[in-house]
Amino acid sequence: MIARTSNSFRGTFIGAASAFICVFALGIANAAHEPTKSEIAARLLRQLPDVKPSDYALGSAAFDAELRTRLEENANAGADAVAAGRALWTAKFRDGRTLASCFPNGGRRIAQNYPQYDSRLKRVVTLEMAVNQCLKTHGQPLYEPADPATMGLVIAYVRSLADGQKIAVRVPPAAEAKFAEGSRLYFTRMGQRNFACASCHLQNAGRHYAEAALSPAIGQATHWPLIRGGAPVTLHARIRECLELMGAAPFAAGSEELNHLEYFLAYLSNGLPLKANAWREK
Ligand code: HEC
Repeated sequence: MIARTSNSFRGTFIGAASAFICVFALGIANAAHEPTKSEIAARLLRQLPDVKPSDYALGSAAFDAELRTRLEENANAGADAVAAGRALWTAKFRDGRTLASCFPNGGRRIAQNYPQYDSRLKRVVTLEMAVNQCLKTHGQPLYEPADPATMGLVIAYVRSLADGQKIAVRVPPAAEAKFAEGSRLYFTRMGQRNFACASCHLQNAGRHYAEAALSPAIGQATHWPLIRGGAPVTLHARIRECLELMGAAPFAAGSEELNHLEYFLAYLSNGLPLKANAWREK
């Protein structure tokens, strides 16, 4: 599978576009600093003149009208996951409390603010971590950070409670080093193929990798979890799939590396509306 994809990858753009290698080498690897959000936005605007930035969150479907129609037809693909997640969210713990009771307003309209920096813990806290903090406080067993049958369902529900809210991830001064770590990971080549996340989702956004058009870095954090084959796929689970494509040993779901990558990605999506449970075919 990897070999087939690799051939197709080279065939579709790497072999043809030696310019890509140059741009990548000069623009990223030797850069004194990673590009800022406005530099990334400007680059995507130049590179994708026919795509509205508000459509970036559609992922591959931003470049494919037929896929976009199917996405719309499957807009309710997450309904079962949301219902099952709601049941977990409101299920009583042994002490009579619930996940809902740990969050302001029962968890309504909070997801757009995650990940967030916790100055007491000195850590970037993802929504998944906040769920596990609640379970821990109440003496409950924790969820695996990317388990579709527990954490995935809960995230499908609580993020749906923020549908329509604009992503609003803050990076206070104390969090800048963590944010920079996420940005650095995004632009660092990793794995046997020597690709960075940015090689595909910035330099080659809109081009094809195997059968899929590559989604742009901006807009990638708005629509989690994805619903694939009826089951929720968390952002960390998807990033792990990309790391495998890159021939890199994937960081664990819930690791600091993926927390910081998520922090950076979510910040790039600031201002775009959250819409949980986007359908994906694969
Ligand atoms: C070799 C190319 C390649 C590299 C490198 C790569 N990805 Fe991907 N990624 C893909 C493909 C193909 C998809 C599925 C089509 C799409 O949505 O872009 C994808 C999908 C995604 C998605 C889901 C987008 C959506 O809306 O469904 C996210 C998020 C993502 N990648 C993040 C990352 C991160 C973070 C890295 C670096 C750790 C990375 N990718 C590295 C090829 C790549």
